[in-house]
Amino acid sequence: MTDTTQATAAASGASATEAFRAKQRSEAAVSQERVSTLATEVITAVHDVIRRHKVTYAEYDALKAWLIGVGQDGEWPLFLDVWIEHVVEEVANENRQGSKGTIEGPYYVPESPRHEAEATLPMRADEPGTPLLFQGQVRAVDGTPLAGAHVEMWHADDDGLYSQYAPNLPKWNLRGTVVADAQGNFRIHTIQPAPYQIPTDGSCGKLIAAAGWHAWRPAHLHVKVSAPGHQLITTQLYFQGGSHVEDDIAQAVKPELILDPKPATSGKGNEVTYDFVLDPVEV
Ligand code: DHB
Ligand code: FE
Repeated sequence: MTDTTQATAAASGASATEAFRAKQRSEAAVSQERVSTLATEVITAVHDVIRRHKVTYAEYDALKAWLIGVGQDGEWPLFLDVWIEHVVEEVANENRQGSKGTIEGPYYVPESPRHEAEATLPMRADEPGTPLLFQGQVRAVDGTPLAGAHVEMWHADDDGLYSQYAPNLPKWNLRGTVVADAQGNFRIHTIQPAPYQIPTDGSCGKLIAAAGWHAWRPAHLHVKVSAPGHQLITTQLYFQGGSHVEDDIAQAVKPELILDPKPATSGKGNEVTYDFVLDPVEV
């Protein structure tokens, strides 16, 4: 990868911040009572850590400098989605009966162009990577096929880069909304993404280096599946045996989300079948 195609923390952080502001679910949905309870408990938890570990002024200053840096680099969306979001997702979806979800991450773009039930995601003429056919059916928990369900997919390319967050990629590269057919079936032709590395040149990278952690997420396909009258699923799918499936820095892997693609019957790359089951909307 050359320097001109390198995604910097500041650039992808700024894009992720802007995208988050555009899609923020609701500005004022948190009551004063909840703010007071949650903020008090978070602050008290920090006090407990300071007492238990006898945190020094040098460590306090390092934390302060780092927090200032996260803001300056625009890396709050990246930090939160890597280290915090997985538990919010766990709590939000603990009562679902249908398919497992996992974190959305910072790189979703709404309203990607629509495609028919069998479609190839937009990609460059010479898009590097192993071809992948991802096919399946969308059903309700009672087994009813969900005709016309939307399967929105977005994923990194063979360099681990996301369109609209890394430079020099076509706008909708490896992003699209596939509309399932009358039986809820879809067939999406794409390429297998590469593992994704958290940008190492910003504050999240500094924390990772200072702590001696690694910066990797396993290769993954992001998907949102939706149908009228049903709860939208936001999920990711991983690849059996892929690097960092066992030690995802974002802790977003679940056993139900690991694919095991086989050589495609077409002879071109791999194929895998994965069905989505959606819960009814809560009444
Ligand atoms: C981050 C990036 C991802 O692609 C993802 O799926 C989750 C988190 C991140 O950089 O924060
Ligand atoms: Fe991702």
